[in-house]
Amino acid sequence: MDGNGRWATNRGWPRLVGHRKGAERVKEIVRASSDLGIGWLTLYAFSTENWKRSTEEVLGLMAIFARYIQREAEGMAREGVRMRFIGDRSRLDPKLQRLMAGIEAKTAHLKRLNLTVAINYGGRDEIVRALRGLACDAAEGRIDPRDLTEAAISARLDTHDLPDPDLVIRTSGETRTSNFLPWQ
Ligand code: IPE
Ligand code: MG
Repeated sequence: MDGNGRWATNRGWPRLVGHRKGAERVKEIVRASSDLGIGWLTLYAFSTENWKRSTEEVLGLMAIFARYIQREAEGMAREGVRMRFIGDRSRLDPKLQRLMAGIEAKTAHLKRLNLTVAINYGGRDEIVRALRGLACDAAEGRIDPRDLTEAAISARLDTHDLPDPDLVIRTSGETRTSNFLPWQ
């Protein structure tokens, strides 16, 4: 997702209005993807760089994520949507972390649409976390560094159970990839 803030600013509204509108739009996109038979949809909701925004905007976004999970849980379960999250959760509010784990468990058996939301996600950060884990395993003798393969690294990424993307849409019209799934 991109351009929500500018969309609101251009209309003379606070950026958070754009984020709220964006969350509404997400519901439509999820439904439309499911209707079109798209099996995998990944939304970049909050990047590791987004912490630099104002406290008000960061807290507002976090509140939108929590509300989305709470309000949409039932409907997603009914429509066969499996929800997952990628990114480093350790920095998120424990209450939000619990909501995330809860909906992941509640929808784990569903198959119609795999919806993944990236929160506190950064592609480089994801690779660093994966390599740190592998380095620890090597240092402690659990793996031989010579066995390190692409597959071994892929298996350690947050996306280990996701296919690589076929199409990336950046909604603002920018064409930078901005740390989104660089390995994948
Ligand atoms: C929404 O749009 C994506 C999020 C990071 C939540 P932006 O917040 O990137 O809006 P712009 O790009 O500043 O307009
Ligand atoms: Mg942006």
